Amino acid sequence: MRAVVVFDSQYGNTRLVGEEIARGISEAGNLEVLAADVDHVALDRVRACDLLVIGSPNHIGRATRATKRFVRAIGADLGRKRVAVFDTCFAGQEGVATREIEANLRKEEPTFAPVAPALSVIVERMKGPIRTGELPKARAYGRRLATLPPREAPPPPA
Ligand SMILES: Cc1cc2nc3c(=O)[nH]c(=O)nc-3n(C[C@H](O)[C@H](O)[C@H](O)COP(=O)(O)O)c2cc1C
Repeated sequence: MRAVVVFDSQYGNTRLVGEEIARGISEAGNLEVLAADVDHVALDRVRACDLLVIGSPNHIGRATRATKRFVRAIGADLGRKRVAVFDTCFAGQEGVATREIEANLRKEEPTFAPVAPALSVIVERMKGPIRTGELPKARAYGRRLATLPPREAPPPPA
């Protein structure tokens, strides 16, 4: 089993969260994990993975352009991968950027469904830090993702 965690990160906070999720995944066992910047990840590694985790900071209520570019680039290869998304944001903005990423994934692949509810990690200010107590949630999220069952095949068309 192979896992890839990609993140866009201007100030390093989303990167920290992505790396912590990757740590959680590898702690849970039998997965080879790559954590990489969304603009530099090798797309063949993404295409070959079973579990894909995508993270973006919230920029003006949106996922970043680099994140959306990545989603377009791998859209056709989503297949039966397990996919989950996360964001970093201010308190009260949880889930805003992740909902956009999930909607964009669904545009690429109508049968797309996240394998788990998205994770939002709160930063105190624009450049961080990550709020105390938030990073352990990222590690636990990774552990949980690593132990979820594979996606079921979509039902045949009626
Ligand atoms: C241009 C810009 C716009 C932002 N707009 C929002 C916003 O609308 N809502 C929010 O919760 N955070 C907003 N933020 C704060 C980001 O969530 C925060 O900078 C980010 O989580 C830090 O992640 P990074 O260190 O990986 O870049 C914004 C940040 C930037 C740079």
